[in-house]
Amino acid sequence: MSRQAALTAAEMQDLNLRFAEAQPQELLAWALERFRPRIALSSSFGAEDVALIDMLWRIDPSAAVFTLDTLRLHTETYAVIDEVRERYGNPVQVYCPDLQAVDQMARERGYNCFYKSVEDRKLCCGIRKVEPLERALAGLDAWISGLRRDQAATRSDVLKIEVDDVHGGIIKLNPLADWTSEQVWDYIRANQVPYNRLHDRGFPSIGCAPCTRPVRPDEDPRAGRWWWELDREQTECGIHVGYDLTAVAALGKSGSNQ
Ligand code: ADX
Ligand code: SF4
Repeated sequence: MSRQAALTAAEMQDLNLRFAEAQPQELLAWALERFRPRIALSSSFGAEDVALIDMLWRIDPSAAVFTLDTLRLHTETYAVIDEVRERYGNPVQVYCPDLQAVDQMARERGYNCFYKSVEDRKLCCGIRKVEPLERALAGLDAWISGLRRDQAATRSDVLKIEVDDVHGGIIKLNPLADWTSEQVWDYIRANQVPYNRLHDRGFPSIGCAPCTRPVRPDEDPRAGRWWWELDREQTECGIHVGYDLTAVAALGKSGSNQ
């Protein structure tokens, strides 16, 4: 799906200059004003995302939040979704994978096929995350993510306001791009934001349960994501990097559990 970007390249440049030194709340307030109701936060309920949920709620309690429930999340992640719903009264829209595609993948390759090869792992991420994300973004002009530049080499040049060519040219906002992990945690503590308890148990970065392990203090914060894969350059699931959905679409159509 490609669309006309809701901001011109010149506007984007001006805005990145204007918000370069700004607090995330200033960018969020501007973005809600500019794009509401066609804007939403994509939340995995990790530390960055719960901080953003709290910031959004203080600006506009009805700001839209969605999550991609891969059906393989940790119990602790579901717990924080419940806590957020209760604390903020936010409905949190949930996008689930196409069950036919999940079933077909499991039959053909096994439920835990992600451990077998990078190709199988990417297929699973495509079915459980990338295709549902496409559906979530379909009605939006802009989405908000919790990406930070110091999370990974692949994220070091993230801008606060981008045209997201990976998702058809939608506007993508990364209000925490220049924040450190310490700043995120200072915010969470200062505002008593509910957070995923796995963060207290050595999980700086949390994805699906079978694909995330805790890390030692001397390890890279993302070392626990797809920890068995040797090529660490590949450790993105397709939410934030280009992904070809052809194989995923084929599985969805050929599913047998009508
Ligand atoms: S991932 O691509 O490696 O899984 P990461 O866990 O670092 O991403 O999270 C970065 C951002 O991607 C989050 O702040 C959030 O905006 C988005 N994101 C990641 N996982 C999900 C999810 N399951 N549902 C919604 N958004 C997500
Ligand atoms: Fe599948 Fe693992 Fe990707 Fe989750 S992180 S979608 S379980 S491969």
